[in-house]
Amino acid sequence: MIVAIDGPAGSGKSTIAREIARRMGFEKLDTGALYRTVAFACTLHGVDLDDEDGVVTLSRSLDISFDSAGEATRISVDGRDVSDDIRTPAVDRIVSKVSAYPGVREAMLPVQRLFAQDRDVVAEGRDIGTVVFPNALVKVFLTADPRERARRRVLQRHPGEQLSDEALQREVDETLADLERRDRLDSSRETAPLRAADDAVRIDSSRFTIDEVVDQIRDLISKRRDS
Ligand code: DC
Repeated sequence: MIVAIDGPAGSGKSTIAREIARRMGFEKLDTGALYRTVAFACTLHGVDLDDEDGVVTLSRSLDISFDSAGEATRISVDGRDVSDDIRTPAVDRIVSKVSAYPGVREAMLPVQRLFAQDRDVVAEGRDIGTVVFPNALVKVFLTADPRERARRRVLQRHPGEQLSDEALQREVDETLADLERRDRLDSSRETAPLRAADDAVRIDSSRFTIDEVVDQIRDLISKRRDS
């Protein structure tokens, strides 16, 4: 059984998918991590990001694997654990370019479908309900107010730190500009743009607590399972 959660950066997909996975015993598939891994591999191998053929060829050659044995899922490429390397501002800046190449998206399809073979998966990304798993049992399109999304990203970057109001506002403004730029790129690309599937249920996560969103999705799962 597949639960698809799509939405823009910072809409809460990761947190919600993690909670659904934990409470319902599903495996979580973070598809953004795949595109981040391709972007990081380009920098590692010195592939020019404007060289579409070079990027696509590299993406096809990568051996990407997930290890979900521990608390958080780890991702490796060609035997190297890149879980931390792919979550840097440098990768944030380049990942939309790499993920817009149709050949890269095609290369990532079998990786995602293989992961979901014979198990219950909650997959989060941008095109899960539309392209990767169009037959998913439940499809959710998660949104949130853009400023709230930027604020969440900033707080994630500074766990446990007490930022002054001024520092927080400044960083939120910068992050908001970056998020909006990425949303524009992700939504306007030709192949598999960020879009809600026609049969997706839209949830605005800025209007609910995490538990409330998780409960709404669990209700959807039970209803669809029983129907
Ligand atoms: O969810 P994230 O921020 O880790 O995703 C990183 C980038 O990957 C995002 O800017 C768009 C791209 N992406 C995509 O094109 N398709 C997906 N299914 C997931 C992510």
